[in-house]
Amino acid sequence: MDVASRVEELRKLVEHHTERYYVLDDPEISDAEFDALVRELRELEEAHPELRTPDSPTQRVGGRASSAFAEVRHRVPMMSLDNAFSFDELVAWGKRMERYISSGDVDYVCELKIDGIACSLLYENGRYVRGATRGNGVVGEDVTENVRTISVVPERLSGDGVPEVLEVRGEVYMPVSAFEELNQRQGEAGLRLFANPRNSGAGSLRQKDPKVTASRDLRFWAYQVGEVQGGPRLRRHSETLDVLKALGLPVNPEVRTVGSLDDVFAYCEHWLRHRHDLDYEIDGVVVKVDDLGQREELGSTSKSPRWAIAYKFPPEEATTLLKDIMVSIGRTGKATPFAQLEPVRVSGSTVQLATLHNEDQVRVKDVRPGDTVTVRKAGDVIPEVVAPVLSKRPEGLPEWRFPDRCPVCDRPLVRIEGESDTFCVNVDCPAQRDGRIIHFASRGAMDIEGLGEKRVQQLTSAGLLTDPGDIYHLTYEALMGLEGFADISARNLLDAIEKSKSRPLPNLLIGLSIRHLGGRGAEVLADAFGHLDRILEASEEEMAVTPGVGSVIAKSVHEFFALDRNRVVVDKLRAAGVNFQGVARSELPPTLAGKAVVVTGTLESMSREKAVDAVKARGGTSPGSVSKKTAYLVAGAEPGAAKVTKAEECGVPVIDEAAFLRLLETGDVA
Ligand code: IVH
Repeated sequence: MDVASRVEELRKLVEHHTERYYVLDDPEISDAEFDALVRELRELEEAHPELRTPDSPTQRVGGRASSAFAEVRHRVPMMSLDNAFSFDELVAWGKRMERYISSGDVDYVCELKIDGIACSLLYENGRYVRGATRGNGVVGEDVTENVRTISVVPERLSGDGVPEVLEVRGEVYMPVSAFEELNQRQGEAGLRLFANPRNSGAGSLRQKDPKVTASRDLRFWAYQVGEVQGGPRLRRHSETLDVLKALGLPVNPEVRTVGSLDDVFAYCEHWLRHRHDLDYEIDGVVVKVDDLGQREELGSTSKSPRWAIAYKFPPEEATTLLKDIMVSIGRTGKATPFAQLEPVRVSGSTVQLATLHNEDQVRVKDVRPGDTVTVRKAGDVIPEVVAPVLSKRPEGLPEWRFPDRCPVCDRPLVRIEGESDTFCVNVDCPAQRDGRIIHFASRGAMDIEGLGEKRVQQLTSAGLLTDPGDIYHLTYEALMGLEGFADISARNLLDAIEKSKSRPLPNLLIGLSIRHLGGRGAEVLADAFGHLDRILEASEEEMAVTPGVGSVIAKSVHEFFALDRNRVVVDKLRAAGVNFQGVARSELPPTLAGKAVVVTGTLESMSREKAVDAVKARGGTSPGSVSKKTAYLVAGAEPGAAKVTKAEECGVPVIDEAAFLRLLETGDVA
């Protein structure tokens, strides 16, 4: 294809996808794929100026007013931002700033780039009079009544020096937790699911009936002003944000003003790693020159100001072909459907498998083999299929049906009434057997180095392992008879197995794959009974009355050890000399008895695990999240922002490492 045709094609594609995104709230491709199209178009136009036209989408801000709402003409255009897709591009921008600014030093305001819907809110004499979407930057949609339903948007501005006219700009968004709840309700009502919080936010804001908007949890962060008449004279953007806050408008608490590009990078790196600690989605960082005089010096292009840039995080979503849906069987027999995908790059890695959770999820999402689907890989979370791209569905594509037999042992699969999971109930199913052994040897349980999935499968296929107890009866000779084993690897594995014999009792309990028994339950049981044999002898009632255990775990543990097959495993472990003894109870005074101390971030003097142990050894607890019941939040280096915010909301004291050490020593922080 020649360049001119490609440019024409790209323009059509960009127009099409702009409409899907801004007007229909139903994008077919990810933001990153969209950005790539715009970028290719811009590069071609730059290399071939003769092909440039004034109506090219690169010359416009993007977005268009939808006909459903009245039009609002922005008195000061709502511009867009230039993007930097890498640190190199960010450096180039920063260097440009420093070169062009004659007065020397540059301060930057770093803000989170909220992935929501840009809106303009107009206040006259302190009273909210109009809300509008950005639209194409010049003309937007009148969403006054819908915005009025957002609880954090004040009806009246507060404080001194309220300007006669204040047009504040910012982002309307839906918190991730609200998006998840909304989708749950949509699913239960058999309605279409939203692909992500941005789409559900946009869909909720642009409702014909403001009552529907009012029923959705929308929020707003203010980050810019448009038209202003009266009010205090402002010299810096950071002052503007302070004024907005003082007027009662919500300003994001993570905004930072910094004096160097190095600090800008540190901010970007921090949020690249911690973006999922927040209860709202961000897709990058916006860096703005602070000094309004310097901004004037720099000016704007037709589309965006030169004094700001959006550093975009690598994409977490992509579209690809769903080749097939398969079912895997876990160690508890749970049958989990998963998608086999045409390999695609997401969040910096290649994804070819993605979970679909359970039968209902496949039905609600209505994904079918042969569909083009959106795939998401957010942070450390396992890749997930979000939704099909319906406009790309081949005609007559059949719905997918959950299999009725186990793909591994061919016995019937059973779905328990009222539950969403389906199970293979054959305890001898090879998939379950392997899964149980893999879990037993895994890091959170007996932590046997070198005994991963592949090795376990090799050993079970060779008939050397049938249950976790057999691990301790493997011999050097038997291992040496297997492919891939040599003297050193066989000895290393046997050493690792030997080492695991002395793991604490909770690890052993976790390793046995007892349904409903998690880490916390295992610790409580080990603490309360002190020895595996005491747990074996205990009645269901005795266990159920133990604080922190409860009837569900008690019943499950009791039933587990009542089965001969599990007793056989225990006997094999005992014969091998595996530790059954609980940890000796602490000799330390219970200075933190009844107190919950949550730890976040990195401590210098000890690991997080050690800190948790230290709290427990003094009679306290150390839950994973902050609530009103938390006594202290210990914040080490790079603490989880969500935890700190929650602590502040709940009035929980946030203490540093030194205060924590005093707390351990004396039971008090003073
Ligand atoms: S400033 C002229 N600050 O990103 C500068 N924008 O492509 C106006 N956005 O349209 C925007 N968070 O929808 C700014 N902290 C932030 C932002 C932000 C999200 C969005 C906004 C804007 C788009 C720019």
